[in-house]
Amino acid sequence: MNPPYDDADWWREAVIYEVYLRSFVDGNGDGVGDIAGLRSRLQYLSDLGVDAIWINPWYPSPMADAGYDVIDQRDIDPEFGTLESAEALIDEAHEYGLRVILDVVPNHTSELRPWFIEAVIGGSGCPGRARYHFRTGRGEHGELPPNNWVSEFGGSTWTRVTEPDGTPGEWYLHLFSPQQPDLNWNHPDVREDFALTLRFWFDRGVDGFRIDVAHYLVKGDDLPDLQEGGYASGEHPHWDREALHDIYRDWRRIADSYTPPRMFVAEAWVESAQRLVRYVRPDELHTAFNFDFLASPWLPDPLRRAIDETLAAHESVGAAPTWVLSNHDVARHVSRYARQQVEGIARFLDDYLDRPADLSVGIRRARAAVVQMLALPGCAYLYFGEELGLPEVEDLPDEVLLDPMFQRSGRTSRGRDGCRVPLPWSGDAPPYGFSHSVRTWLPQPFDWARYAVAAQEGDPASMLEFYRTAIRLRHSHPALGDGSMQWVPTPEGVLGFAREPDFLCVVNYSAEPIVLPEGAEILLSSVEFAAGAGLPGDTAVWLDVPRL
Ligand code: GLC
Ligand code: CA
Repeated sequence: MNPPYDDADWWREAVIYEVYLRSFVDGNGDGVGDIAGLRSRLQYLSDLGVDAIWINPWYPSPMADAGYDVIDQRDIDPEFGTLESAEALIDEAHEYGLRVILDVVPNHTSELRPWFIEAVIGGSGCPGRARYHFRTGRGEHGELPPNNWVSEFGGSTWTRVTEPDGTPGEWYLHLFSPQQPDLNWNHPDVREDFALTLRFWFDRGVDGFRIDVAHYLVKGDDLPDLQEGGYASGEHPHWDREALHDIYRDWRRIADSYTPPRMFVAEAWVESAQRLVRYVRPDELHTAFNFDFLASPWLPDPLRRAIDETLAAHESVGAAPTWVLSNHDVARHVSRYARQQVEGIARFLDDYLDRPADLSVGIRRARAAVVQMLALPGCAYLYFGEELGLPEVEDLPDEVLLDPMFQRSGRTSRGRDGCRVPLPWSGDAPPYGFSHSVRTWLPQPFDWARYAVAAQEGDPASMLEFYRTAIRLRHSHPALGDGSMQWVPTPEGVLGFAREPDFLCVVNYSAEPIVLPEGAEILLSSVEFAAGAGLPGDTAVWLDVPRL
C-alpha cells in the first residue's frame, strides 16, 4: 500500500478508475449501487492497481440525468448513503493508497435546487432569477423561445415557466434537459457557492475534481441566435468562451491553497487539442480528458494523429496529457472496436448499430488498446467494467431506458444506458453478486456470467488478470508514466513508439503478422502468440530493447 501523498504531481501519471457509483456494487439491496457497496470493494480496486478513483455525482438529486442534476453539492443523496459514509469512504480509500476525485457540476443545477424554486415562484424580476438565465420569449405574446439554441439532449434549450399569477411567463435556459437549468456565472452568488463546494470537499480530504462540461459555463451576454456557418474559436455564444479561464484560475488558487495541492480534470469537448490545452495552462486546471483519442477509430492513422496533436499541444503548455477509451457518456469500446473501423468520429451506440459486431474482435482490440494507452506518456482513465471486457448492452428494452437523451431525442437516439449496466461480480445469473435484490436499476444481460469478477479472477487468460498485470508493470517500469516518447519506423498498419530507458511499444492494427525487432524481450503482450510467428494482427506488445 502506497501512502496517498508521496508525490504532489501524482496526477501526471496516475491510472484513475471511474466508479459509476449506481452500477458498481449495491450495499443495501435496493438495486442501486451505493457508498456502502463501494466501501466493501476498495480491496478490489487496490488489487487492480489503480492510483485513484473518480466517483460520479453522489449528491442529492431527483436523478433526471443520473445525478448530473444536483440539488445540493455539499451533501449526499440518501440513495447513495450519508455524508458520514462519504467521509468514511474517503478516509478508507486513502488507507488503501487510493486518491479520491469527485464530480463537480457547475454549468447547471437541478430544477429542484431551492435557488431555482425561489426563482420560479418569485416571479419575473425577482432577484433569484438573476442566478439563472431567464428571458422573455419572442413572438407577440412571448410564446416563442428567446433564441434558436438546441439542447444537447435534443429540443429547444428553453422552457417556459408559469408565473405566480398563473399566466405563461418567462423562459429559462437549459443546455441539457429542462430539469437542469443553466446557472449565470456572472452572478457573484454562483461563484461563491462553487468556491464553498470545492473547499467543503477538499476540507474532507478529497484529492481533486472532475469538472462537468467545463467549457459550457459562460455564455455571451445577449444570448444571440446561433448563426449558420459556425464561429471563430472562442466566439461561440455558449461554449469555450474566454471568460471561463478566469473562473478556473480562481479554482486553481483554491486547490493550491491546500497541502498537498488538489487537482482538477476538465471535461471539455472542444474543437481541437490547441483549444483544449488552454484549460491546462500553468495557472489553470491540471489536466483535461482527451476525447480525440477516445473517439478515434481503431486505425493507425487517426490514432497517430490524435496522439501527435495531444502531445504537441500539451507540451506547449507543460501539462500532462490524459488518455481514455470509455466513460459513462459513450458506447463501451469493446463494442465500438467490434465493428468495422472507418475514419471519422463516433461515440454513441447509434453511430454503430447498423454495422455488424464481432465481440471477440472487440475484446482482442480492447486488450491491444489498453496496452497502447498505458504506454503513452501521461495519465490514464479506466471506466468501470472495462477491466472485465464488458461490452455495451445494445438490446435494453425501450421501457427500461432512463437516459434523458432517449426521450428528448423523440426516442430516436438510444442514449447512454447501455454503458451503465451494473457490474457482474459473481454467480451465473443476474444480479451476479451486484446486489441482494434481483431488480437492478438497469437489467443485466443473461449471458454475463463469463464477465463476472469471480469467473475471471485467477485465470491468467482473463481480461481482469491482464489489466492487473499491465497496470502493475506500468507502475514498476521506469520508462512508463510521465515523460516523452518517439515514434519508430514501422510497416504500414503498425505503430511503434520508444520510451527511455529501453522500452518499445508496438501495435499491429493490420491483419498480417509483423516481425519484431531481434533480441527484444516481450514484457507484456495483449494476446499470447508463438515466438517466431511474428506479432499477429490486432495485437500490441511492450518490449525491452536494451540496444535502443
Ligand atoms: C456531462 C456528463 C453527462 C451529463 C452532462 C450534463 O457531459 O458526463 O453524463 O449528462 O454533462 O451534466
Ligand atoms: Ca443501494
